[in-house]
Amino acid sequence: MNIDHPDIIAGKKSILNALREQIKTITHHRPPDPQRAISYESHINRLEALRGAPLFHSYIGSGIGNGPLVALADGSIKYDMISGIGVHYFGHSYLDLIACSLDAAIQDVIMQGNLEQNTDSLTLLELITEASKLDCGFITTSGAMACENALKIIFQKQHPKTRLIAFEGCFMGRTLALSHITDRPEFRGGLPTTLTVDYIPFYDYEHPETSLKATTQALYEHLRRYPNQHAAICMELVQGDGGVYPGTKEFFKEIITICKAHGIAIFVDEVQTFARTYELFAFQYYDLQDLVDVVTVAKALHVGVTLWRKEWTPKPLLISQTFTAATTALRAAIFTLKELQNGEYFGALGRVHKLHNAFIEELTSLHERYPEMIRGPFGIGAMVAFTFADGSPEKTGIFLRKLFHNGVIAFVAGSEPTRVRFLPPAGIMTEDHVLHVSAIIEQTIQEYLSL
Ligand SMILES: Cc1ncc(COP(=O)(O)O)c(C=O)c1O
Repeated sequence: MNIDHPDIIAGKKSILNALREQIKTITHHRPPDPQRAISYESHINRLEALRGAPLFHSYIGSGIGNGPLVALADGSIKYDMISGIGVHYFGHSYLDLIACSLDAAIQDVIMQGNLEQNTDSLTLLELITEASKLDCGFITTSGAMACENALKIIFQKQHPKTRLIAFEGCFMGRTLALSHITDRPEFRGGLPTTLTVDYIPFYDYEHPETSLKATTQALYEHLRRYPNQHAAICMELVQGDGGVYPGTKEFFKEIITICKAHGIAIFVDEVQTFARTYELFAFQYYDLQDLVDVVTVAKALHVGVTLWRKEWTPKPLLISQTFTAATTALRAAIFTLKELQNGEYFGALGRVHKLHNAFIEELTSLHERYPEMIRGPFGIGAMVAFTFADGSPEKTGIFLRKLFHNGVIAFVAGSEPTRVRFLPPAGIMTEDHVLHVSAIIEQTIQEYLSL
């Protein structure tokens, strides 16, 4: 396919120019258009009825935005601080990504399949194995499938070991198997047991001096009780859905050393952390690159990938699927990886660091002015959280809906306390945007207090 054909180049240029004009009009948050409010509400009601469950936010996108701003179908414009739970790293209507999608749209197929792939899979796998220094990878359509494939690879090699170690509060996805790793019993209500998992405490930032001891004790206890039965330890290096809790290098290293000595595979789930700490992979930030065996990514990459060292290569027939991913998603993943590696995103002076500092400064100042309403801030890099009021799900829910109404989209994380979570579009967000978001948070706190 020759995408350098002059007509294609001219066509793309005129589409992108037309889009650029429209995007320019999206500059500030604004309330819904009252004329569209009634039909919007009926769309929301129909969508909720069809999916058989309420939506968390009354969100139906219009298909356009500008960086962190998204235009909804009710005519409102909002700051999107959760990015589809960590997906839209470059925000909304990012022209370079749209250009990739246009190139993808004129390829011969919409979905690439594992039986017949174009060069995209090869390019992506070359880039991501090189970036991760892991040997092999398998592309898939979601974080959950990437994790499922990781577990299959691990269990096959570790046969007949059947147990897993995981951190309390972890999240790994919602398939039948993963629901039994995700440490939320309410997420697996009524499901048959598929996996046996022994939990150990995650790093306790409130008690750093005793945290490692408590975790190693629990770990040794499981190893004593079930000798030679654990196939892997599943690790999120920053717990995302669990409440946005980072760990430390020393903590992870010690746990990994014990696990390795017991023949336990080190499986790091980077579905949420990929590109959100101060290195491309959190395992690189925590200096664990020589210790990990199997790693998964998804979300900000736009496709799921399971990565492993060659000694973990599964036997033929263990992993396969019809779909590799959509051509658009593969092109987006290739763009994302190249951009993140060539741009100034990571390290002490990178964009992620600057963004984190801007959030911390603003949220700390809000905490100082409203100490009973905002606790924290918490998190690392482009994973930011705070606790609202007493951290109850009810008050946090009310606050988040008001915040949405006022122009900022955020989400929950964890329980006891439930925290307000931001996974902002780190690739494009500026310190100025943070100031606007902060002003809307303050307005929302004041409204809450005047209830
Ligand atoms: C750490 C982690 N692993 C796995 C998943 C599952 O990914 P997906 O929702 O794409 O299936 C998630 C999703 O939030 C996640 O945060």
